[in-house]
Amino acid sequence: FAAPAKIQVVVHIVYHTPTENISDEQVRSQIDVLNADFRRQNTDKGKVPSVWEELAADCFIDFELAPDGITRTQTEVASFGTDNAVKSTEMGGIDAWPTDKYLNIWVCNLQEGLLGYAQFPGGPSDTDGVVINFRAFGTMGTAEAPFNLGRTTTHEVGHYLNLSHIFGDGRSNSCEDTDYVEDTPNQLGPNYEKPTFPKISCNNAPHGDMFMNYMDYVDDDSMFMFTKGQAARMKATLLGPRASLLA
Ligand code: ARG
Ligand code: ZN
Ligand code: CA
Repeated sequence: FAAPAKIQVVVHIVYHTPTENISDEQVRSQIDVLNADFRRQNTDKGKVPSVWEELAADCFIDFELAPDGITRTQTEVASFGTDNAVKSTEMGGIDAWPTDKYLNIWVCNLQEGLLGYAQFPGGPSDTDGVVINFRAFGTMGTAEAPFNLGRTTTHEVGHYLNLSHIFGDGRSNSCEDTDYVEDTPNQLGPNYEKPTFPKISCNNAPHGDMFMNYMDYVDDDSMFMFTKGQAARMKATLLGPRASLLA
């Protein structure tokens, strides 16, 4: 792109308790994180190990909250699962805005342990978008450590733009598995919490797993990069299956 690609965003807050009805300010804190992380303007980018600095990418994607792009819906549903109910007015959630034009983000109480989930390109239009737990959204208010830096949404938007987990999405714990990205090292499986560099698996010595990638499972303060290969994959998505977002 000549200028950064701009994606319009609508955030649907679906709340059962008043606490879950998060503030506009908290929503804006999340949009700010997306804009920093996808432009490599995140304040923690200096933590990328020097051996991978060359690979760390400005993905050249901007996010803009649409006019009146925060909706608020009270629900009888105490907690949602991964069945897309939150995306449907009939099921106790709220219907999407046109998914060919907007990235829809639903924020709600998700079942224990679930931080978020995303739909990859090519799925049904009425359920397109990402869902984020209100405890892992933005950087203030109801956001709870260690998931209070907005990285769950960065990760889920990565999926929405066709990125797989860095460890691959097929068989778990296999070195044969791939994320279809050349410049991310093969790694055995997910990393959690706050690993120390280097962490070796799958003959990937000396540098080991790129666990500080947004598409691993580490804590928010331990992930701070996309690679150029991942940026290229997201760009291809915005020129291909998600081109209508930029029109
Ligand atoms: N486990 C979730 C998923 O696979 C999200 C993980 C996000 N990690 C984080 N540190 N916020 O989609
Ligand atoms: Zn994921
Ligand atoms: Ca790879």
